[in-house]
Amino acid sequence: MGGGLGEGARPGRGEGVAQVGASGHEQCLLRAQFVAPGAHGVGITVGHGGTVAGRAPARGGTARRCAIVNGPRPTPEGARVTTRPPTEDRPRITSFVHHRARLTEGQQRAWDRSWPVLGRDVDDVVDGSVAYDPPAWFGRTAPLVLEIGSGMGESTAALAAAAPEYDHLAVEVFEPGLAQLLMRVEELGLGNLALLRGDAVELLRARVPEGSLSAVRIFFPDPWPKRKHRKRRLVQPEIAALVASRLAPGGTLHLATDWDDYATQMRAVCDGEHSLVNTAADEPGGWFPRPDWRPVTKFEQRAHLGGRAVHDLLYRRGSAGRTSDHAS
Ligand SMILES: C[S@@+](CC[C@H](N)C(=O)[O-])C[C@H]1O[C@@H](n2cnc3c(N)ncnc32)[C@H](O)[C@@H]1O
Repeated sequence: MGGGLGEGARPGRGEGVAQVGASGHEQCLLRAQFVAPGAHGVGITVGHGGTVAGRAPARGGTARRCAIVNGPRPTPEGARVTTRPPTEDRPRITSFVHHRARLTEGQQRAWDRSWPVLGRDVDDVVDGSVAYDPPAWFGRTAPLVLEIGSGMGESTAALAAAAPEYDHLAVEVFEPGLAQLLMRVEELGLGNLALLRGDAVELLRARVPEGSLSAVRIFFPDPWPKRKHRKRRLVQPEIAALVASRLAPGGTLHLATDWDDYATQMRAVCDGEHSLVNTAADEPGGWFPRPDWRPVTKFEQRAHLGGRAVHDLLYRRGSAGRTSDHAS
């Protein structure tokens, strides 16, 4: 899975490492989506200038990993382009660029102990070398919640602990975030959480059966606050349609963001997806009142410090059934 991250990075899947000059926070820093309808191949771009360097040289320094998800052409900012065979149904392009952050000692120990048991690479699941088999992973069949971008796992672990009757898939491209989540899993003794390293969109497209998820969560998905970055954001019509198709009837899509323009885009995109219904359509602005059970992560804290409001959106697929609050 590793949308290109980690040892499993595989040339030919559109992966590479970007050398960038800009600094940013620990995760989720630079992310680029290339949307050139009709074009083919994979583009690697560097969000704030820089060059694409192919596979990672060594850890540390300024190199950052860049997992290329799919898509046609790079932005014009001078990135080299790798290509892969076109496919008929490849959706929009998404790419992620991260700090090449080292694991802390604690993260590394948790990784060594628990990743072989709880972690899987999206690439392996997508290519079939590892089966997508949640019942086998969890040793039971239970309603399934998938989170796109679990980050450092604060919400993920807390919500999994609060809903033991649900199984949870945390999909993330940022390795230290996954390692931190493993530490939380160990600390809480969670048995209902599995980790997937790589691009959630590819996983959803390739392996997650239609109608199989009770809930999908997308909390503070990416750092593209400016209006001009709208096309680079994760939440786009194709992704909403994809997510909706994987939800069971009555399943929910829960989104949160601290950027007003992104919130407006999320709402417009999801309102435009015919199979999704806004559960808060009668609330002011259509925003879902902030649920007190959604933990306050550092992203939300920063939003408060910056004077930004956080907006939640909760959509339900169709009208059948009802999922619990904790599975929203
Ligand atoms: C701003 S962080 C927020 C993390 C977490 N949801 C939270 O609220 O603390 C967004 C995270 O989403 C991850 N991400 C974004 N798109 C993703 C995708 N398609 N697949 C996997 N991870 C993704 C990024 O790597 C990043 O760590």
